[in-house]
Amino acid sequence: MSSLLVDNIGELVTNGAGEGPLGIRRNAAVLVEEGRVVWVGPSAYAPAADRRLDAGGAAVLPGFVDSHAHLVFAGDRAAEFAARMAGQPYTGGGIRTTVGATRAATDNELRATVRRLRGEALRQGTTTMEIKSGYGLTVADEARSLRIAAESSTETTFLGAHVVPAEYADRPDDYVSLVCGPMLAAATPYAKWVDVFCERGAFDVDHARAILACGQAAGLGVRIHANQLGPGAGVRLGVELDAASVDHCTHLSDADVDALAGTAHSDGSGTRTVATLLPGAEFSTRSPYPDARRLLDAGVTVALATDCNPGSSYTSSMPFCVALAVREMRMTPAEAVWAATAGGARALRRDDIGVLTPGARADLVVLDAPSYLHLAYRPGVPLIRQVMRNGVTP
Ligand code: NIG
Ligand code: FE
Repeated sequence: MSSLLVDNIGELVTNGAGEGPLGIRRNAAVLVEEGRVVWVGPSAYAPAADRRLDAGGAAVLPGFVDSHAHLVFAGDRAAEFAARMAGQPYTGGGIRTTVGATRAATDNELRATVRRLRGEALRQGTTTMEIKSGYGLTVADEARSLRIAAESSTETTFLGAHVVPAEYADRPDDYVSLVCGPMLAAATPYAKWVDVFCERGAFDVDHARAILACGQAAGLGVRIHANQLGPGAGVRLGVELDAASVDHCTHLSDADVDALAGTAHSDGSGTRTVATLLPGAEFSTRSPYPDARRLLDAGVTVALATDCNPGSSYTSSMPFCVALAVREMRMTPAEAVWAATAGGARALRRDDIGVLTPGARADLVVLDAPSYLHLAYRPGVPLIRQVMRNGVTP
């Protein structure tokens, strides 16, 4: 059994025991065996190991957990982005453009895009990435999207209810039946989660409830795109169905915040349903950012994710999202880093990632900086010196 000691860590973010909400330890070391963290402590007292990685006094943190991404698609929508920057609003209608391109693509073209974006994210420190379907919207195209997604992640999400495709435009009930019937059956072998875009212009709350309930009955966990473009009942539906995460949360009422706060665990460890905020979407659609402070002050557990997709947020960069959350959403750097690591893990109901404590997966990032603070303080700078997943350099 080969062991690895990462030592001479100037600032270690554990998200466990240690100083402050990030569980910081200084002059620390981490011992890794068989892909897991087995010991964390002062560098001066570190046990011997077969191999050593000298962090050189830099900061080390858990790999980012990006719990919301749409990587299976073809084409891009740069022209739509340019039109928005010239004043056009974002409505979600462009999803159908990507559906057309995705259906026309070969498996290998889709696979190449997923691998390219997954690699891009990995180089920016993302060690876990959720991947959704949702640009196929036929039984065969959703099944192949998830089959390809599953080659790159175990966190795969069936989003057959992303939008009603053009051929069902005048009979949305029939499309919901297709999603709940043959499409779900074809998706289930490759999916862990079910998701719905619950929004005006996509699926209303009754359709969303029906689809999520079918997915849940088939053994999938629930997540939902809710309250992105306007107020609505999506967040409360997520709470009603014990969703692991309600995503976007840009337009929230007091009742929505109360509903999320009401899912608090009795041990004070936050909420069972996480609010996942996606500031890349507000950046790229030039929209007002969600009010992270209001959620945090109400005790709601917050995650940050990229929403990487060709329409509303074509970034794979978690450091960029951390910087946006700090500058534009009034999160402290510590809150944003927690949300991008442990928060993402909570949004996926995982306790083996997002932390660097004994028993956790050895998924970590060595920064080219002395502190996690630099992720927000030095925006746009490539600060990821080294990434490890399961204790090895991928
Ligand atoms: O999360 N909101 C719905 N889905 C994506 C956007 C998809 C698209 O515009 O292609 C999102 O922002
Ligand atoms: Fe999304």
